[in-house]
Amino acid sequence: MILYFSATGNTEFVAKKLAEYMNDEVINLLERIRNKDYSEIHSDRPFVICSPIYVCEMPRFFADFIDKLELTGNRNVYYVFTSGGYAGIAAALGRKQAKRKGMVYRGRAEFRMPRNYPISRRYPLLPENEVLERIEDTKKKLPEVAKQIYNGERIKLRRLTYFEKIVTYPFNPVWVKYKHTAKPFHTTEKCMGCGKCARVCPLNNIKLVDKKPQWGNTCAHCMACMSGCPTESIEYGNITQDKYKYHFKKFCKD
Ligand SMILES: Cc1cc2nc3c(=O)[nH]c(=O)nc-3n(C[C@H](O)[C@H](O)[C@H](O)COP(=O)(O)O)c2cc1C
Repeated sequence: MILYFSATGNTEFVAKKLAEYMNDEVINLLERIRNKDYSEIHSDRPFVICSPIYVCEMPRFFADFIDKLELTGNRNVYYVFTSGGYAGIAAALGRKQAKRKGMVYRGRAEFRMPRNYPISRRYPLLPENEVLERIEDTKKKLPEVAKQIYNGERIKLRRLTYFEKIVTYPFNPVWVKYKHTAKPFHTTEKCMGCGKCARVCPLNNIKLVDKKPQWGNTCAHCMACMSGCPTESIEYGNITQDKYKYHFKKFCKD
């Protein structure tokens, strides 16, 4: 059973491909997250939790959701992360989460996918050729990971260092608190008030007022609103206006 959250399509692609290769079921958890629906999901096959990485971890709202979600049946769990190249301490936290849930951690796979965060000055969006290269690399790697999970193998990647763990864990909440503000989000005249941004926000943080989106105080900077906007009318201060808005489906139709 493959469960995923994806804001800009990378994780969705990986999750659906794994499901296809493994002939397994796949569930997009967005609506459940929005509705705080933690009701039972049952699977006789191992659970595979697929997540993007935000600030070196699974998004905390997603990790919190998984904590509360009732998973019954098979007790094995794999984690699959998509990131811009560094998944930080997500694996260590996944292992702890599995333990809290009374499940058996079977390892994690990581896919280096295109960056999706135009607000970041340090990790800018990639040029098209690099985006396509990363997608191709992922396509090549997917069958092997699917085979490992399908065969119930333990997936072993490098061990995280103690230094990574002690530096990253306290860093995340501080960064998120000061940097993940929604205040600078606004729309340009291209906004037609369709409300898609509100519907794709995992935290229900966007309300339409007079057909214009207004952002509240809870924002994970996931970029679902910006990247899903059909008229590309959502900007963040003056940081994003000259940048393209990343969504996986703009680069790959698979
Ligand atoms: C708020 C935010 C923080 C991110 N932090 C990291 C990070 O710490 N390391 C990294 O490699 N990629 C980071 N990324 C990139 C995403 O993890 C990556 O592009 C991912 O594949 C997006 O998945 P999605 O398209 O399914 O939402 C970050 C992206 C966002 C929006």
